[in-house]
Amino acid sequence: MTYRKEIVPPGLERVLFTEAQVNRRIAEIAAEISAKYTERPLKLIGVLKGSVFFLTALARLITVPVKIDFLAISTFAPQPRASGGVVRISKDLDEGIENEDVLLVEDIVDTGLTTRYLLQMLAGRGPNTLGICTLLDRTSKRLVPVTIHYRCFEIPDRFVVGCGLDYKQLYRNLGYLAVLDPAAVTAD
Ligand code: IMP
Repeated sequence: MTYRKEIVPPGLERVLFTEAQVNRRIAEIAAEISAKYTERPLKLIGVLKGSVFFLTALARLITVPVKIDFLAISTFAPQPRASGGVVRISKDLDEGIENEDVLLVEDIVDTGLTTRYLLQMLAGRGPNTLGICTLLDRTSKRLVPVTIHYRCFEIPDRFVVGCGLDYKQLYRNLGYLAVLDPAAVTAD
């Protein structure tokens, strides 16, 4: 099976934002960030694996010096693929963030529970500033308030894949964002 640009692959319902729209929006956000962080190097912190594609695209368009670091989390969800489970760090950052200007880069803020957990953990490590930048924001499912400083798109209450977001580890490498076909969702 190949992903052909002009055809929506099996399992997907429709394209939500095209690759051109995604790239344009990331460029706008990168310009905003570049205008803000002019004093000192900015540290982008990505959450494996979902935010990798967004973080690298963003970093390449930011025009001020950036450092990057990654952490990985495991979520013990009440049911498979559900948002809002208990979050644990399964891979910590390689370096400290004390006194640094930090932007947590997320693929999606959904319930907000993961982001809130990560923010509290990072804030405890003494950064100079701490902000949030997310590719997607699904406010309709929010359980805890989260202040988002940079957001590319707000999305409806549908499961979305592409640009790093997966369903069962697939579709991350799509350059566009698409709605998963509910008929493709399986119980396992
Ligand atoms: P939260 O704690 O509910 O905000 O969970 C956010 C995490 O759930 C994200 O980092 C994603 O890994 C996952 N997630 C939530 N919604 C989607 C979606 O529509 N597509 C893919 N992953 C999602």
